[in-house]
Amino acid sequence: MENKIKQTGTAQITIEGKSYDLPIMKGSMGAPGIDVRALYKQSGHFTFDPGFTSTCSTESQITFIDGGEGQLLYRGYDVEKLAEESTSLEVAYLLIHGELPNAKEYETFESTITNHTMLHDQIESFFQGYRRDSHPMSMLCGTVGALSGFYHDDQHTTEDEARDLAIHRIIAKIPTLAARCYKYRVGQPSVYPQNNLSYAGNFLRMCFAVPAEPYEVNPVIERAMDKIFILHMDHEQNASTSTVRLAGSSGANPYACIAAGTACLWGPSHGGANEAALNMLKEIGTVDRIPEYIARAKDKTDPFRLMGFGHRVYKATDPRARVMRRTTHEVLGELGISNPVLEVAMELEKIATNEDYFVKRGLYPNVDFYSGIVLSALGFPTDMFTVLFALARTTGWISQWNEMLEDPSQRIGRPRQLYSGAELRDFVPMDKR
Ligand code: SDX
Repeated sequence: MENKIKQTGTAQITIEGKSYDLPIMKGSMGAPGIDVRALYKQSGHFTFDPGFTSTCSTESQITFIDGGEGQLLYRGYDVEKLAEESTSLEVAYLLIHGELPNAKEYETFESTITNHTMLHDQIESFFQGYRRDSHPMSMLCGTVGALSGFYHDDQHTTEDEARDLAIHRIIAKIPTLAARCYKYRVGQPSVYPQNNLSYAGNFLRMCFAVPAEPYEVNPVIERAMDKIFILHMDHEQNASTSTVRLAGSSGANPYACIAAGTACLWGPSHGGANEAALNMLKEIGTVDRIPEYIARAKDKTDPFRLMGFGHRVYKATDPRARVMRRTTHEVLGELGISNPVLEVAMELEKIATNEDYFVKRGLYPNVDFYSGIVLSALGFPTDMFTVLFALARTTGWISQWNEMLEDPSQRIGRPRQLYSGAELRDFVPMDKR
């Protein structure tokens, strides 16, 4: 990665009568940033920004989000266009290399990924240690981390070849691991990958094929699955991607970094919201109960929030939610399913996006609002939704991890704090307390 941000001006900060000049840096798109790297050394003052609402943690050239316009670009390409026109592996290549592949590049990449999809057979023993009713995210977190114990030729993250090998292995094996979590959860035998199937088709077959009968991938379902992977693949410096970058900044094992990102994504405020959103829609149950839940979401004394609504960056509808809504209709139509939950979702979206409380705060449906409905229609149980999110986001995580390691300005991430604890005091022996 070549650093491309440029100084476009100077900010001046005055502290106790003394002024400090700080460079204003700008990239190719989006807001500029005040470079505060030298602030503490010059002024003895930190910046304070818990939750990082006004803080850029890095320069990146992978994904751009315009939260006001509801725009999401992967390496400059509109995600809605990529979801409609491209495929998971083509977009994976784009995220990693920065350009869409030509036919030869794609053929080589697809073949490399396909030939890394099998798991080391001893990974199976890790699954046997889980209770059958363990949450699939606990299995994914544990087993993707366990992969760090199986490969030693891709550990030297400073070497391009080792990093490429880790990138290919992780992208290739995460669908096999995710499907294994599902099969273990439902008590069915695992299904090995088949090299003649697409990335999405292989995953569907590993999830839903059973030894007792032949399994044919439904092309409409395969296309929907592929779109869902593309939509969830990357999203700039969200909580789980920042976790992967921070873990990787110490030179940690790549599989361990992905496990750290998986753990972070699991939270209901982040990737766990798709599971929470469907549970919420099922709890609402019928359109006439929507006003009761809208009132609860607005009530500050009630911890209830509309799951699948709101976003730190988007203050307009998440473009991924638009595609997910269309995909939901396509899949339900193909499968001939009429799902009352979809009717509740559509009505809830219509009501909430006209309510002053939500409009004033820029709260609109995000990627998780519809995904539960379509994933449920595809046959996945609710507790598998975040596993699917993690499967897709693994490509974004490992692309961001790789970019960080190639960034000449990269250092180990080590935030500071404002300390408000006890000041220096003497130890008092137990018999004197
Ligand atoms: C993802 O970062 C990413 O890019 C994440 C992600 C990705 O691809 O990686 O896009 C994936 O995580 C999507 C978000 C999934 N989470 C949910 O759907 C959970 C419900 N949403 C929220 O909890 C919330 O909106 C967050 C966590 C998504 C964003 O939280 P912020 O930016 O910290 O906003 P906030 O909590 O400060 O809320 C601002 C105001 C508050 O009210 P006031 O104090 O101003 O009166 O909006 C309110 C909040 O109470 N609010 C909501 C709400 N979300 C925010 N009120 C009701 N329902 C909601 N969903």
